[in-house]
Amino acid sequence: MPTFTAATTPLTELDAEVMVVFATAGRSPDTGGAVLGADATAAAEALDVDLAAELAAVRFEGKLGAVGRVPTRAAVPAALLLVVGLDLTAGVDLERLRRAAGAAVRNATKDARVGIAVPLDLLPQGTAPAAAVQAVVEGAGLGAYAYTEYRTKSPDAPTIAEVLVRADGAEPADVERGIADGLVTVRATNITRDLVNTPPGAKRPPVLAERVRALAEDAGLSVRIFDEDALSEGGFGGILGVGQGSSARPRLVELTYEPGPDSPPATGTASGHVVLVGKGITFDTGGISLKPSTSMNTMKSDMSGAAAVLGAMTALADLGVTTKVTGLLALAENMPGGDAIRVSDVLVQRGGTTVEVMNTDAEGRLILADALAYGAESSPDLMIDLATLTGAQIVALGTQICGLMGTDDALVDELQQAASAAGERVWHLPLPEDYAEHLRSEVADLRNIGRPGQAGTLVAGLFLKEFTAGIPWAHLDIAGPAFNEDGDSFYNAKGATGFGVRTLVRFLTAYRPTPEV
Ligand code: BES
Ligand code: ZN
Ligand code: ZN
Repeated sequence: MPTFTAATTPLTELDAEVMVVFATAGRSPDTGGAVLGADATAAAEALDVDLAAELAAVRFEGKLGAVGRVPTRAAVPAALLLVVGLDLTAGVDLERLRRAAGAAVRNATKDARVGIAVPLDLLPQGTAPAAAVQAVVEGAGLGAYAYTEYRTKSPDAPTIAEVLVRADGAEPADVERGIADGLVTVRATNITRDLVNTPPGAKRPPVLAERVRALAEDAGLSVRIFDEDALSEGGFGGILGVGQGSSARPRLVELTYEPGPDSPPATGTASGHVVLVGKGITFDTGGISLKPSTSMNTMKSDMSGAAAVLGAMTALADLGVTTKVTGLLALAENMPGGDAIRVSDVLVQRGGTTVEVMNTDAEGRLILADALAYGAESSPDLMIDLATLTGAQIVALGTQICGLMGTDDALVDELQQAASAAGERVWHLPLPEDYAEHLRSEVADLRNIGRPGQAGTLVAGLFLKEFTAGIPWAHLDIAGPAFNEDGDSFYNAKGATGFGVRTLVRFLTAYRPTPEV
């Protein structure tokens, strides 16, 4: 992770090897379309280059993430000026700035010190400078991420050493706050990415639980780990059932964040209580209902929900969140070993509901059901779960948009707002009451799959709803967005994206319990 520092001098005077300025798409005939900001113009002047001509020559139009590379002469410390497209023709949202900043660092020289000019003059009036700085820091910090744990040769990853952030026109305090908040989010997201990118054999449930403990304790959270005996004792039949095909026993990790003395309760004495639940299948083979082999290629990422809950919770103390937050990470390895659950076996979930397992590959809902039932027992204000739950989510919404379902309109609204502010795309899907009959079993209270080819994502949501005991609840199916198979895109390299962390962080930062009347 590069260091981030506020800079007050013009870019061309900074001790940096690469300078980054932004430009938007427009109709400027001089540049071939791109509209330059004040920092770009000032840099061109100091460098004595005809930036417009240089950009026109490479057909730089200011499209989002497009990069015009302009080598500089000895006049300034930096050897390279990167002009990065923002494509603000239709107004801006900060996600464009985040993406452009990600593209910038991914195009910077390896190990460089990079000076970035936050283009406040190009953003619409009313954009909060701290929010713009934060977006740039997030884009740059996330874009500079590379998973290098297992590389023995020098990776060709776009790591950079240092980012100097200049935001002409912003108060120094706003720049500092934008950098600080951005860094907290980046650190949290990259913790999640590291866990998801870890090979599955190196994060089997008992090992992952201990790794989570270390990361959580570092962030000031308290940690309780339920081992197989505690799970049996507590009647967690879903987690145990899914885990029984693996020689590595399952775990449930309970993380607790208590607001400190510096974060007073928002309303009266009650500071509220939010429960977060994450699916943590450390590898999903499908179990006895074995997946075809290529479908397993990304299944080390089937613990992305749990990793996102941990990541988000590591940020809470730094951000002074005023609400108590419990994180429940249900960890199991879905393997087809000799003791694995069979098709038609019946599991008794936490709380006593019985489930007929008609497909062992629909395992996520079985482990989440236990965790949700357990979470509901403490009567929290609300619960949110994140899970790479269904392939059908990818069929419906693709890899860039997550499916959001919930039983409480206000909660769904607040999550949509948080996601939109964070630059993560979610789409609200229904939980049609009448589809619940797809889950009717002949022998148990429920079965774990619906009808083939029919609303798989919604039916999975309806299954989970059965375990929420009427507590306001929302479910994020992140099967597509959690893992990037397609190739580098802006601030997301191939592999884990950390999807959901930014939404949770925003949601929890803004959350205030409704006062009792
Ligand atoms: N982990 C998968 C869902 C998934 C698929 C996540 C692709 C990411 C990418 C989940 O456990 C699963 O296998 N679901 C089944 C459910 C079906 C058997 C009802 C699915 O979606 O096919
Ligand atoms: Zn599965
Ligand atoms: Zn799964």
